[in-house]
Amino acid sequence: MDNVIKQLKENLSKTSSLTDLDKIYIEYLGRSGIINDLISKIKEISNEEKREYGQKVNKLKVSINQLIDIKKKELQSKKSEVFFDNTLPGKTYPRGSLHIVSYAIEEITKIYEKIGFIRVSYPEVDWEYGAFESLNMPSGHPARDDVETSFIDVPAHPTFGKMVLTPHTSNGQNREMKRVGKPPIRMINISKCYRPNWDATHTPMFYQFEGLCVDREITIANLKGTLDYFAEKYFGKGTKTRLRPHHFQFTEPSFEVDISCNICSGKGMGCKVCKSGWLELGGCGMVHPNVLHEGGIDPIQYTGWAFGFGIERIIMMKYGLDDIRNYYSGDIRFLEQF
Ligand code: FA5
Repeated sequence: MDNVIKQLKENLSKTSSLTDLDKIYIEYLGRSGIINDLISKIKEISNEEKREYGQKVNKLKVSINQLIDIKKKELQSKKSEVFFDNTLPGKTYPRGSLHIVSYAIEEITKIYEKIGFIRVSYPEVDWEYGAFESLNMPSGHPARDDVETSFIDVPAHPTFGKMVLTPHTSNGQNREMKRVGKPPIRMINISKCYRPNWDATHTPMFYQFEGLCVDREITIANLKGTLDYFAEKYFGKGTKTRLRPHHFQFTEPSFEVDISCNICSGKGMGCKVCKSGWLELGGCGMVHPNVLHEGGIDPIQYTGWAFGFGIERIIMMKYGLDDIRNYYSGDIRFLEQF
C-alpha cells in the first residue's frame, strides 16, 4: 500500500491538465480503481487482520483524496486549461497590403523594364567619391553645398573620402558604368536617400529613382521621349512634360522637368495643386563628359542622359496628396486608402 502513494505522487507530478487529473481519479478511486480493488480483497484476509486491513485502506483512500484535491486546486489556480472548441469556425485576420511607396516602386520598375531598362539598387550609404567626386563635384566644390549631406562617423577611406548617407541616387551612375563596362547602359536605380529636411514636401529619408542611358548618338530627343513615355504611363494618357534650363554639376545641359497638372488639365488658373498648369518632377540632363570619363566610358564615342526624381513626390502628384510626412506616420487610416 505504501507503494500506492509513492506511485500516485509520481503520477501527479507529471500531470498538467484537469483532464489528466480526472483520469488519475478514476484510476485510484473509480469503480474498478485501486481502492475498490483493495476493498474487494478483504474477503481473502483472516478475521483477526480484517480490522487493521480495513483501517489501512480507509486511510489510504483519505490520503489519495487529499493529494488529488491539492493538485486540483493547484491546476485551477494556474488556469492552465483553456477551453477550446475545435468545431468553431476559424478567425479571419485582415489582409495587409503594400505600402504606397513599395507599390509605386513596382509600378516604376515595370514601366521602365518594358523599354529595356534594368532595375538596380545601389548603396544608400556610400563614399563621398560615389556621391560627389565621380559626379564632377571635387572636394571643396561649392556645388556640394546644394545637397546637404549627413556624414557617418567612421574613418575616411584614403581614396574615396568620408562615408555619407547618399543625398541622391546619382551615386549609382559611376557604379553602373563600371559594372556594365561597355555601353549600351539602361539603368533604373531605386534607392533611399537622406537629407536633413522636414516639411510637407520633404522628409529626412525619401526615395529617388534615377534613370541612366548611355550609348552612341544618344540625344536630348531620346531623353524627352522617355520622359513623355513615363509621364503617360504613370500619370495617365495626355500628360505632357516640359524641360526648363537648370544647373546640375553632373549634367550638361541640365533641366528641371515639369509635368502638366492632371487636376486642372494644365489650365493652371485657380488650381490649388499647381497654380501654373505644371508640377515639378525632378532634375535631368545630358551626362557630363567628365562623369562618363570617370566611369571609364569614352565621351567622344558615347553620350548619355540621366534623370533623378523623388518617389514620394510623384505619388503626391498622382493622387493630389498634400503632405508626404503622412506616408511614414504609420497611420493605418491614411495607408489603407491606397
Ligand atoms: C537631384 O537629387 C539630382 N541628383 C537629380 C538628377 C539626377 C539631376 C540625374 C540630373 C541628372 P534634386 O536635389 O532636385 O536633384 O532632387 C530630385 C528630386 O528628389 C526632387 O525633385 C524631389 O522630388 C526629391 N527630393 C529631394 N529632396 C527631398 C526630400 N527631402 N524629401 C522628399 N523628396 C525629396
